[in-house]
Amino acid sequence: MKKLFLLFFLLPALLAAQGGMWLPMHLEKQNEKDMKALGFKLDADDLYAPNRPSVKDAICQFSGGCTGAMVSSQGLLLTNHHCGFDAIQTHSTLEHNYVEEGFWAKTQSEELPSPGETAMFISRMEDVTALALQNVTESMNERDRQSQIDKNLAQIRVSTKKEKWEEILIRPFYNGNQYFLFVTVTYTDVRLVGAPPSSIGKFGADTDNWVWPRHTGDFSMFRVYANKDNLPADYSPDNKPLNPKHFLPVSISGVKEGDFTMIYGFPGRTDEYLPAIAVQQTGEVLNPAKVNIRDRALKIMDAFMRKDPGVKIAYIARYASIANAWKKWLGEMQGLKTYKALDKKRDYEAEFTRRVQQNPGWKFKYGNLLPRLEQTYKEMEPYAHARDNYLEIFVRNSELLGMVASLNSWIKSYEEGGVSAFSGKLKDAKSRLDGFYKDYRPEVDQAVFAALVELYAQHVKEDWGAGFVKSEATNRGGYDKLAAYIFQNSILADRNKWEALVAGDPKNLGEALKNDPAVVFWRGASNPYQAGVVPKLQELQSTANLLQRQYMAAQLEVFKEKRFFPDANSTLRLTYGKVRGYSPKDAVIYDFRTYLDGVMEKYIPGDYEFDVPQKLIDLWKTKDYGRYATSDGRLPVCFLGSNHTTGGNSGSPALDARGNLIGLNFDRVWEGTMSDLNYDPAICRNIMVDSRYILFIIDKYAGATRLIEEMKVVKK
Ligand code: ARG
Ligand code: GLU
Repeated sequence: MKKLFLLFFLLPALLAAQGGMWLPMHLEKQNEKDMKALGFKLDADDLYAPNRPSVKDAICQFSGGCTGAMVSSQGLLLTNHHCGFDAIQTHSTLEHNYVEEGFWAKTQSEELPSPGETAMFISRMEDVTALALQNVTESMNERDRQSQIDKNLAQIRVSTKKEKWEEILIRPFYNGNQYFLFVTVTYTDVRLVGAPPSSIGKFGADTDNWVWPRHTGDFSMFRVYANKDNLPADYSPDNKPLNPKHFLPVSISGVKEGDFTMIYGFPGRTDEYLPAIAVQQTGEVLNPAKVNIRDRALKIMDAFMRKDPGVKIAYIARYASIANAWKKWLGEMQGLKTYKALDKKRDYEAEFTRRVQQNPGWKFKYGNLLPRLEQTYKEMEPYAHARDNYLEIFVRNSELLGMVASLNSWIKSYEEGGVSAFSGKLKDAKSRLDGFYKDYRPEVDQAVFAALVELYAQHVKEDWGAGFVKSEATNRGGYDKLAAYIFQNSILADRNKWEALVAGDPKNLGEALKNDPAVVFWRGASNPYQAGVVPKLQELQSTANLLQRQYMAAQLEVFKEKRFFPDANSTLRLTYGKVRGYSPKDAVIYDFRTYLDGVMEKYIPGDYEFDVPQKLIDLWKTKDYGRYATSDGRLPVCFLGSNHTTGGNSGSPALDARGNLIGLNFDRVWEGTMSDLNYDPAICRNIMVDSRYILFIIDKYAGATRLIEEMKVVKK
């Protein structure tokens, strides 16, 4: 009876649409019907077609980590403010502070070349699983398997037809059970066209990050340039705006609750098919360790930033990026608990086991998978915990230790090969340190260092470097004194000392680095970690990967009735859902939309997170919203949808049922950040800035009407 009940209770859940980041080439087979039932008005091949223009031709990966969309026939690209932030910051000076004031090129000739920014489009994709896995057998060990696959992929690369300007990208999907090939075209002449001031584009900053209700105008604009044949070319004043195969009309019709939406972009990474034990480890062991470390680092940085505006400017970007993951992990931990992710995973696993036990073939192939995964993850736990502590403390959150980590092999080349091996890479080290010192405040870093290495000593096994850290602290009379000693004597912590040494004899530099107290300390902890943790962790991780690949294959076979999307892996995906609010807790209901009135509610004059530009205040006072207002005369800012997104989807266009741009994705709600491990349609929402707010800012706030005229603005 109980079993039967479980089955009835579970089956609808297994069958229900559970988010998903779908492969464009499989939409017709896997999703079209479902999408049309939800209100989609085009056909699947309007979104993706290999041989004729389709919506996918308007979507690009922006600079490796974000998404961008073409919104005009002249290569105008829309992405997030936080995606364009590097470029905006790089072009800023004290006289022209585009971060503070915004930037709007009045003509194409004023658009600012931004080396390093790229736009990668997908020409077509292919399933190459059969070729990729040719001659791969069940009995191969992981290393032989991988080398056979590498050989196969190399073969596929040479035999795939492509144009000179195209590139080939092959990626594993479904944990290595399938392989897909992408033919890509990457443009490198990308120029900054416009950005609102941070008080619009980053409004709410870290306090509002990952949070709803949200009021951020998180967008910026670039233009992609091509050579005279419309092909990729390095920057040249002779280049012309790209004429893309497709660009998105921008809708000002507005959205209402329940409307069909899609997000087209390049989601980075999800892990939706892990066993419960792995999710539990992330939520209960690894995230808490990382959060605890970042908590300390952030509090220390914040105290310094509040005391000294100079420190604030220097550390604002670093703080934001440390805080971004910190806050997401916290939300993830809480969401996993509140929405009972482990119970759901365990029910799913019970159903998996039940089906497997009933089928002798499956029982033989898959009967042992879950117990073995359980055992492998348990064994891995102390090593993974040490790894996360090590990476957070010795690589990521102490700047000085992170710098040593990145210079270590260079210093080693001196110790092994003398100045000749070493000085060849001097230029690289010099430019790295130049960048490092630009925003470096040793007094901040020293305080972070003292707190974090103490955490390492407390939380990691003695043999894995913690013993060394403890004895160093004891010898120096405590963690603060240890930090003071290292920061007073390290040449890396002192720009003047470094520059004097770099200007002189390389041999002196090599000797000084070799004996530098920061280097000696880093190695004293790192060496036992490398010896005690890394080999064992690699071995266990490789076993976990193998088992996960088999478990993924098993899930695909055992739950035939369920549609599985492959985990995100920075390739082009479509996700769809509806415009929808949510209820984060009892008696609290969040509306799906925010308005400019809400910006004014949050306004704190002069605050670096919640200040509002005077011009925007004036426009709000006079309600001068033009055609961008809702029917009741208010200006929409952000809205929510039930689209399944993740990091990398920043800047992804939000599309309506006909493929018009209705917004720009930039975040998720805090209660739903667990969606990377456990998507739950009840609570997981993506946050978009409304296309009407974007156009309003460009048009009414910035007066950049030439850009509005260039776009195809549509209204029902
Ligand atoms: N949470 C968003 C994302 O993951 C926005 C991050 C940028 N904003 C910030 N305040 N750090 O990337
Ligand atoms: N802000 C994220 C990004 O940079 C998108 C939000 C998310 O993680 O869903 O890609």
